[in-house]
Amino acid sequence: MSVAALRRDEFPWTTDVVYLNHASIGPLPERTRLALEEFNRRRAAPFRLPDRDLFGLLAESRRLIAELVGASPAEIGLTVNTGYGLSLAARALPLRPGDIVLASDREFPANVYPWMRLKDIGVTLELAPTTAEGWPDEAYLLDRLADPRVRVLAVSLVQFGSGYLVDLDRLSAATRATGTFLVVDAIQGVGHIPVDLSRTEVDVLACGGQKWLLSPWGTGFVYVRRDLIAELSPAITGWMAFEGTADLTRLTGYDDTLLSDARRFELMTLPYQDFAGLNPSLGLLLSLGVPRIREHLCSLHAPVLEWADRMGIRVTSPRDEHGSGILCLAPDRVAEAHRRLKAARIICSLREGSIRLSPHAYNTVDEMAQVVEVLDGHLKGE
Ligand SMILES: Cc1ncc(COP(=O)(O)O)c(C=O)c1O
Repeated sequence: MSVAALRRDEFPWTTDVVYLNHASIGPLPERTRLALEEFNRRRAAPFRLPDRDLFGLLAESRRLIAELVGASPAEIGLTVNTGYGLSLAARALPLRPGDIVLASDREFPANVYPWMRLKDIGVTLELAPTTAEGWPDEAYLLDRLADPRVRVLAVSLVQFGSGYLVDLDRLSAATRATGTFLVVDAIQGVGHIPVDLSRTEVDVLACGGQKWLLSPWGTGFVYVRRDLIAELSPAITGWMAFEGTADLTRLTGYDDTLLSDARRFELMTLPYQDFAGLNPSLGLLLSLGVPRIREHLCSLHAPVLEWADRMGIRVTSPRDEHGSGILCLAPDRVAEAHRRLKAARIICSLREGSIRLSPHAYNTVDEMAQVVEVLDGHLKGE
């Protein structure tokens, strides 16, 4: 699908506004909006939604997510956000008093607080110093793995404030070598960064659907590596996590054997309507192809970077293989620059002292040129 067709068919409001804020909230493609409307039409009269359809749509969500991240559907548990998967990891991994969870300073709070709270069982969160640029210091993190007390490395695939993309292969290999659990907050990466968990082993990966997956709030998933599923006993369980609820006509047998796949981590009842929206959005992303989306975003960054270099504007995102779809710039009087962009109907975020531009598959070089024009006017005080 060409970018022009994508804009016309799926994001028709792009004629009025430049939306570069996918690191905050992803829009819903038209196909998704229509699927939600159709679902809600049926939901209004629930006899139109037999259990077969409801369970079928959740199974389809697991299948599509698995395809997106190179996993098996049995390794995918559906969740309502990222935080649930990270909290699950914090509470279900076999940690003991004296253990250390290692994360980088400047992580998003969803990947900090669940670990901080483990002080109640004597587990410490250690926030590793960042590099001078404020990015995760991978060499430092890997050195710390030599300490046997470090039992978990918890990282974001892509940092929310800088767009730094970790070298997941490297972290995976190192944690495999030391037997450290690797837990990944993937919400800022999955959807525009290719991830293949069949090739790159991680233990737990958590992701919400509301940003780069162009999906409704209330969607998300947790991936748990196949061999780890049986070892993780969730502290909080839904009623459908057990063998005893397999037959809805006979629920009071109370067989409390947890399901053997990642559905044991699901807190049923889940928001079916939101997953009815997730499925067409994932279908769109898969049909566009994540590697192609990544390439497209690199091409969108190029003119902004070229201008920033020419004008001596500080770029606070990495530009090498650690670069992602998020591009952060720190011009002087950054808050004013952000206000100017907003006044020009260019939507982006101000985060950690930088303007954060986060385009997606349907954005254009022309839109990025508009950003340059507004920022250029800001610099020249026009
Ligand atoms: C790195 C990161 N993790 C998590 C979240 C959100 O977590 P949740 O899906 O639990 O709201 C965000 C952004 O809101 C984020 O940038």
